[in-house]
Amino acid sequence: MHSDDQTPRPLRASSGTPLRGTARVPGDKSISHRAFLFGGLASGTTRITGLLEGEDVIATGRAMVAMGALIRREGEAFVVDGVGNGCLLEPEAPLDFGNAGTGARLTMGLAGAYNFGATFIGDASLSKRPMGRVLDPLREMGVQVVARSKDRLPLSIHGPKMTAPIAYRVPMPSAQVKSAVLLAGLNTPGVTTVIEPIATRDHTEKMLAGFGAAIDVETKADGVRHIRLEGQGELIGLADFQVPGDPSSAAFPVVAALIVEGSDVTIETVLMNPTRTGLIETLIEMGGSIEILNRRTEGGEDVADLRVRHSALTGVEVPPERAPSMIDEYPALAVAAAFAKGRTTMRGLEELRVKESDRLSAVAAGLAANNIAHEEGADWLIVDGNPDGVGANGEGYGKGTVTTHLDHRIAMSFLVLGLASAHAVTVDDGRMIATSFPEFAGMMAGFGGAIEAAALDP
Ligand code: S3P
Repeated sequence: MHSDDQTPRPLRASSGTPLRGTARVPGDKSISHRAFLFGGLASGTTRITGLLEGEDVIATGRAMVAMGALIRREGEAFVVDGVGNGCLLEPEAPLDFGNAGTGARLTMGLAGAYNFGATFIGDASLSKRPMGRVLDPLREMGVQVVARSKDRLPLSIHGPKMTAPIAYRVPMPSAQVKSAVLLAGLNTPGVTTVIEPIATRDHTEKMLAGFGAAIDVETKADGVRHIRLEGQGELIGLADFQVPGDPSSAAFPVVAALIVEGSDVTIETVLMNPTRTGLIETLIEMGGSIEILNRRTEGGEDVADLRVRHSALTGVEVPPERAPSMIDEYPALAVAAAFAKGRTTMRGLEELRVKESDRLSAVAAGLAANNIAHEEGADWLIVDGNPDGVGANGEGYGKGTVTTHLDHRIAMSFLVLGLASAHAVTVDDGRMIATSFPEFAGMMAGFGGAIEAAALDP
């Protein structure tokens, strides 16, 4: 549930001491959403440990409770009693997803295949984001949609008596769209097929298989993935489901340690699923000292500890085909690139325009406000870095106030910038950090980073 407090909370980060220490980042957001969705749907009990207790995930949990699941806390764990596949109840009140695109879009797929009505609402950021990408395939399956403003929240959907299975080629690289179609397929007779030309995070496929769904993934010779799901089968709760640490949250302390002089930080139990490791790969190519230690498997996923030390970075061209495996990490990469020698070029970024904010323009504006040379294109960003943290006008980085547009990752990225800049960096609102990484400021403080409440200049 999003915060009822409507007052922005500005934060300021400044440089000082090196960052040192060992910590765990919270559970992966994508996997946490799915743990509540699938646990709430499966028959029997699912016990989840390591769940991200961020506002986004809690909103998804509430939606599942509104449709009949029971969720309780037992010490560190969340215990979910699911309804059984095909047995969701009609929610009595609108489902409020706050800031969360993943929760809203995946739940639309899930609920869309039921012959009942469901209304979706969210905060100002979520209400601007396109939902047509999910609603279009759902319409093909027979779902009716009522929206006041074209395919934006608030909107209501109503599923048909029986949804029709479709074969859907996902037109943009989006795990949310892929997942919404597959989740609708769970309550659809026959085989629902998703054709994915560009691979995106595969948590839905892996987790559904773990919960017992009849799902099959075939990668053709041309690299295109064909995912087939047999609908109306049984899903069974998992006695012990562990959520690994979120690489998209780890991105912030990792970049901070690379750019703050003298730093040496270890982040434990980070998800290393190859559909999510594009940033680590890129930072290592840039010369970042990132040791991948203690590789192991936990809860069916590869995880590792990351030891990161302050490093001399060099700008690189990031291959556009890597974008899906680091789509949420470009704001953090742009900050690392500001301290790299030479030019970093990032292409294939069109999806950044429809995230919690228009992240491409929010990043560019934040760089501009803090004296960092860059160029923004329709779907690309170039950052001309300087390891000394000095801009083209001879002034040290920082001093700027960054507009976050209700986007947690913009807030955290620019606070990381402040930890390494000559002058402090202020973000206009830090409230949204609680959607994905409530411990962020505390963890950075534990490493020695200075992030504090700030007042904005009138
Ligand atoms: C997510 C998919 C991605 C990502 C988002 C989480 C998911 O969105 O940006 O943070 O859990 O499926 P898109 O599907 O819009 O690319």
